[in-house]
Amino acid sequence: MSEQPLRVLGLSGEYRSTSKSGMMVNHALNLAKESGAEVFFWDCNEKPLPFVGEDGCWENANVKEFQELASSCDAFLVCSPEYHGTMSGVMKNTFDWLYDKHIGGKSVGLMCTLGGMQNSNTLNHMRIMLRWLHAWPVPEQLAVGHVKEAFDDDGELTDEATKERLKSLVDSVLNAATMLKA
Ligand SMILES: Cc1cc2nc3c(=O)[nH]c(=O)nc-3n(C[C@H](O)[C@H](O)[C@H](O)COP(=O)(O)O)c2cc1C
Repeated sequence: MSEQPLRVLGLSGEYRSTSKSGMMVNHALNLAKESGAEVFFWDCNEKPLPFVGEDGCWENANVKEFQELASSCDAFLVCSPEYHGTMSGVMKNTFDWLYDKHIGGKSVGLMCTLGGMQNSNTLNHMRIMLRWLHAWPVPEQLAVGHVKEAFDDDGELTDEATKERLKSLVDSVLNAATMLKA
């Protein structure tokens, strides 16, 4: 195990840390922190990333900061809402700002939230996308269906099985990050 704590970046496919996907990412980051990692959350509401290709995007200060932060991290915990059967535009655009040199060879934990019944479409689409970035999504993954009922009034996950799957996912991402760094 490296002496430096693992650095883990959380990415949400929604604006605001208070969105359901933002909440999932922050629950995951808290577990990573409890295991000794140093954690970061990129909040697109505070620091929006422009659409790739829009005027001035290549000189955007948020993009530079985001890419530098991603480069400095060892692992990623990611959650997208499912929109029309796939990841949100915010999620895709966030990944469109990352290249192999920022995320390649690093472990990734995939999560998604759905208004309807849970399925793996968004997770699979993100997994395929990550192949082009040479990233290493771990086999564990988590789809939270009927997401409106998934949290209590304090923002805690209500379902024990979901909590256990989240812990397994985070543990796997940290273990993989340690192996990939060695
Ligand atoms: C444009 C749009 C498309 C959506 N498509 C789906 C869908 O295909 N399947 C589904 O279960 N829920 C769908 N939903 C519901 C979202 O998945 C749900 O609101 C989201 O996971 C909540 O997380 P958030 O607070 O992070 O946005 C859609 C919502 C929007 C706004």
